[in-house]
Amino acid sequence: MEAARNVELKAHDPDPARTLERALAAGARDEGLLRQRDTYFTVAAGRLKLREEDPGGATLIGYQRPDAGGERVSAYRLVAVPDPEAMRAALADANGIDVVVVKRRHLLLWETVRIHLDEVRGLGSFLELEAVAAPGSDLRREREQVAHLREALDIPDEALREGSYADALRGRPAAAGEPDPELLALAREAAGRAYAPYSNFPVGAALRTADGRRFAGANVENAAYPQGQCAEASAIGALVAGGGGEVAEVVVAAPSSELCTPCGGCRQRLREFTPDDAPIHLVDLERVRRTTSLGELLPLSFGPGHLTA
Ligand code: THU
Repeated sequence: MEAARNVELKAHDPDPARTLERALAAGARDEGLLRQRDTYFTVAAGRLKLREEDPGGATLIGYQRPDAGGERVSAYRLVAVPDPEAMRAALADANGIDVVVVKRRHLLLWETVRIHLDEVRGLGSFLELEAVAAPGSDLRREREQVAHLREALDIPDEALREGSYADALRGRPAAAGEPDPELLALAREAAGRAYAPYSNFPVGAALRTADGRRFAGANVENAAYPQGQCAEASAIGALVAGGGGEVAEVVVAAPSSELCTPCGGCRQRLREFTPDDAPIHLVDLERVRRTTSLGELLPLSFGPGHLTA
């Protein structure tokens, strides 16, 4: 089966509100907001990412494209994924996860061109144009469409970007998308010291405050089962004893083949100290399996603000 193609361009966008206005004035149709998480896997050739989209589903996207700064041609294949968790685990086990890109995308359509106004976590605001090519096209029309929009949206040469968001994140310090290495180590160490003789499911959690302090905790079980305590609750106790403060980053580590997501009670416990968008990394001993946030884990939540309003 032939790969689909598009002609595309990526640029840094210092003023997305102005770009939105210009795109609408140029006749683009507003298709609304999407939250996307792209997990890039380590691969032998090209790029391979699992895209999870809200609203929407999951898609495996394999593609090849040159890293040119201007307009470029990308050849890609889209595969619908009914079970993204299993797909991520299978590809992560076989190849390893390279990097995870989380973004909010404002999607517009102009003729057959997708206009993306992207807010990428850890990187900033970007604009993408993707002119989807008709099968067998010589790409002349698509190139003209991109050139027309580039003019209408006023995208200067200096704003053009090479490579993918994944490349940009990979080249940055850990804080841009990957866990703080020290926090990662603390959570894994804590998991190694967990007291979990009944479940045999050791968990470690580590919290970093906005002012750079780190605290860890492990799950502590009990022969009287309901008295057991989760790793996150232990870490929150250490945080409070250590002076408290706002949590800027969380790592939950479990040496398990299952993704260990915080239980419902711990989501609420974290809610007390953690803003909605702080990264929460769910890891095992080798890899970061997923990066999420409290806003995603506990939507429409109740928190301290409700009692002071
Ligand atoms: N557990 C945690 O410590 N944190 C989580 O996020 C999920 C579950 C613990 C509780 C219990 O000791 C064991 O894992 C099995 O449920």
